[in-house]
Amino acid sequence: MPEFRAVEIKGHIRHVVKVEAGEKIFLCRCYGSKNFPFCDGSHNQSHHNIGPAVIEVEDDTPQAEEDQPAE
Ligand code: FES
Repeated sequence: MPEFRAVEIKGHIRHVVKVEAGEKIFLCRCYGSKNFPFCDGSHNQSHHNIGPAVIEVEDDTPQAEEDQPAE
């Protein structure tokens, strides 16, 4: 589970989620999740045609030199 915190900015609650390289998360957009801000599949029970926002962070970290194949 990614690290997240709720912060209030000018009277509005913002959920700040820390996503690591190579990680994929599903954020609730239907407001029905019991694990908000993360999707728990509850959107399947609603009559709205809406699902989660999928956030995927590519891992473009260069491999360590010792992990590189020999040429
Ligand atoms: S539970 Fe809200 S989008 Fe999945």
